[in-house]
Amino acid sequence: FMADKGKHRHFMAKEIAEQPEVVGRTLAEYADFSERAARLPEQVKIDFAKLDRLTITACGTAYLAGLTAKYWFERYARLPTEVDIASEFRYREAPMPKNGAAIVISQSGETADTLAALRYCKSQGQETVALVNVPGSTIAREADAAIFTYAGPEIGVASTKAFTCQLTVLAALAVAAAKARGAITREQERELIGALIEAPRHMAEILKEEKHIADVAREVAHAQDVLYLGRGVNYPIALEGALKLKEISYIHAEGYAAGELKHGPIALIDENVPVIVIAPRDDLFDKTVSNMEEVAARGGKIVLLTDDEGLEAHGQRTFQRIRVPRAHSILSPLLYALPVQLLAYHAAVFMGTDVDQPRNLAKSVTVE
Ligand code: G6P
Repeated sequence: FMADKGKHRHFMAKEIAEQPEVVGRTLAEYADFSERAARLPEQVKIDFAKLDRLTITACGTAYLAGLTAKYWFERYARLPTEVDIASEFRYREAPMPKNGAAIVISQSGETADTLAALRYCKSQGQETVALVNVPGSTIAREADAAIFTYAGPEIGVASTKAFTCQLTVLAALAVAAAKARGAITREQERELIGALIEAPRHMAEILKEEKHIADVAREVAHAQDVLYLGRGVNYPIALEGALKLKEISYIHAEGYAAGELKHGPIALIDENVPVIVIAPRDDLFDKTVSNMEEVAARGGKIVLLTDDEGLEAHGQRTFQRIRVPRAHSILSPLLYALPVQLLAYHAAVFMGTDVDQPRNLAKSVTVE
């Protein structure tokens, strides 16, 4: 098959732009839109009602999708969930419960460490599910059940659309688990799935901000170090933002849980360090804003990603603001993923790097 960039300059740009479509297509496999109900694929034999623990392992961006899912499975399904990097998990001889299940996440389905983690989970008697983008891949074939993201081929080395599709599947699975465990009512299920159905529309709105985000990215690209802060379900998005920027622009970046700021990274803050703050108006908003004030007080240049309109009125000195549509909190990781992808993409284009084939990186790491 011949991959085609269409009107885009890079595959990564095309893949970012495809997200409203592929996320909608993926969600349609895991949710009944007219009933607003979660739909568990029949090959998944996990009995969520009896499950003692869920273990999720993966590498890179897929790991960050797993880390996001931990917040959903614990909050909505009240299911203890452990997440680890596959290269660590495979060797640490973790004890696993009798009534346990494991999900491995991999775009390619070929990552060596993730495959090894899957084999370990199987050896420990876990019910295993592979969430992959490539049907027929090794990981898909070896797991007890394979389920799919419908992102289409992802060519850019830095994962974008596969990530948001992974989030989509995991959010719907968490709702299905919550229902099976009696942790949510039918009304709450309708609300959560109803919110997920809105993802493509909101994503399309965010993509319209691309020009403004590119302007911000050009300023960020002058920095030597960039810090990303987020809390709760958006903490993994801070990590993903930093990972994307490092991978393709080669600018040093770190993601931190906003509450950890004062335990180290605050020492780095001065007027030369842009701080990207992911702050949707949710139950942790005020906490994140107070962390942002600590940054502002030290002269840090804040790039605020938010759906909040009121901060300016509170006298906040924000260096730049990127608006994200107001949405249900289950959606925020899916939505905030887009501006951090676009920031990294445009910073890399500005730096003149090889965006689709960044140095030293491979699309799929099939050796240890
Ligand atoms: C490489 C890629 C990343 C990807 C990771 C895991 O590092 O550059 O974009 O997230 O591998 O790949 P997988 O195919 O298992 O999702």
